[in-house]
Amino acid sequence: MLPHRSDFPSDFLFGVATSAYQIEGHAQGGAGPTHWDDFARTPGNVTGAQHGAIACDHLTRWPEDLDLVQQAGFDVYRFSTSWARVLPEGRGTPNQDGLDFYDRLVDGMLARGIKPAATLYHWELPSALADLGGWRNRDIANWFADYTEVIMKRIGDRLWSAAPINEPWCVTWLSHFEGHHAPGLRDIRATARAMHHVLLAHGRAIQVMRELGLSNLGAVCNMEVAAPANDTASARTAATRHDAIYNQFFISGMMKGRYPDAALEGLEPYLPRGWQDDFPTIVQKLDWMGLNYYARKHYDMAPPRDGQQPPWPGTCETAPTRPCTGLGWEIYPEGLSHFLQMMARDYTGDLPLYVTENGMAEHPGADPLSDQDRITYLSQHMNELQKCCAEGVPVKGYFTWSLLDNYEWAHGYGPRFGLVHVDYDTLTRTPKHSYQALRNALSR
Ligand code: FCB
Repeated sequence: MLPHRSDFPSDFLFGVATSAYQIEGHAQGGAGPTHWDDFARTPGNVTGAQHGAIACDHLTRWPEDLDLVQQAGFDVYRFSTSWARVLPEGRGTPNQDGLDFYDRLVDGMLARGIKPAATLYHWELPSALADLGGWRNRDIANWFADYTEVIMKRIGDRLWSAAPINEPWCVTWLSHFEGHHAPGLRDIRATARAMHHVLLAHGRAIQVMRELGLSNLGAVCNMEVAAPANDTASARTAATRHDAIYNQFFISGMMKGRYPDAALEGLEPYLPRGWQDDFPTIVQKLDWMGLNYYARKHYDMAPPRDGQQPPWPGTCETAPTRPCTGLGWEIYPEGLSHFLQMMARDYTGDLPLYVTENGMAEHPGADPLSDQDRITYLSQHMNELQKCCAEGVPVKGYFTWSLLDNYEWAHGYGPRFGLVHVDYDTLTRTPKHSYQALRNALSR
């Protein structure tokens, strides 16, 4: 059973999260093409070559969706604005329909008593900027700052919070080193540059928002427990490397103005010249830090190939040792407290922490509305949060991923993360049992 609202401190906030490309319907309303459209239309990248052209048609159905947020009793709605909807070419002339849409959406939240929490980049880079090298090009920090100014001049006055970039690790490592997300590169130099530029863009966007007078500004990092596959020195090295790349690099850059040694040992030769000089821009005072947490992974050093040790990081992922979600992500609720404690202890001190995403893809069952596994997953993670609150970790809120079943990136529409079921033929929304359970928990 889910813990109740009254089991948490009285100022603890509950929210639900979505992102633009995953729900809006990108082919509508004058948005420009993005690298996700291009990536999805290239064979082999996305299951069934599915894309976000219609998605959940949130662009027209948003009032119904905000009603669902309100009726569940959520305090905050975390949404993202699409760069290519606001600026179809990434720069230059804004799309007035796009600006009008986000304006109405924010007013729609306020009218329903929901706090708007905006993220400015949740992965759909305008194709015109990808043509110029995207995250590999240092100029992206200024392009992003200009986009931040355009959208925030329109909606910034009514936001509860804002964060520049969702999950820097996914924007960079997953997309430029592993090639699993757009732009689908597998190139260490591109990766190192993207990792640095994404932080520079974060810093520039925070500066712009401060200049515009916005407050409650933060950042959203994703973290995954990196466990050694076994009790050997090589497995421990592999896990340490992944922890540095995944869990430490970005928060360390933003909060401490340095990168962890275990990441620099492989990345430093590829960072842009003079990278150390950018930390005064990257390290901006933040008002909160967000954690997106889902799972644990296990690592070992990769075996030699053709008699050669693979180049750095030279690691491989090994099989999970506990039950997994429908996407094969190992369920490890203890990791949530591990990271919240680590963040407060090593990086953020008293700064409020928010769990900005947590949830699961369900195992498809006979009844699409019956999602007991999700209720169990959420309650296990909420129990960890309660422990953190009791220990004095300054965690102040919890956002479930996601409101609706939606476009799960390279997996297309197969995995369903929603509290609300979406019938992709009719686009009908139907609350699942987890939605009802959360509504009940939040009312008590
Ligand atoms: C996170 C993303 C989000 C969604 C969930 C399942 O990494 O931020 O868009 O795909 O995973």
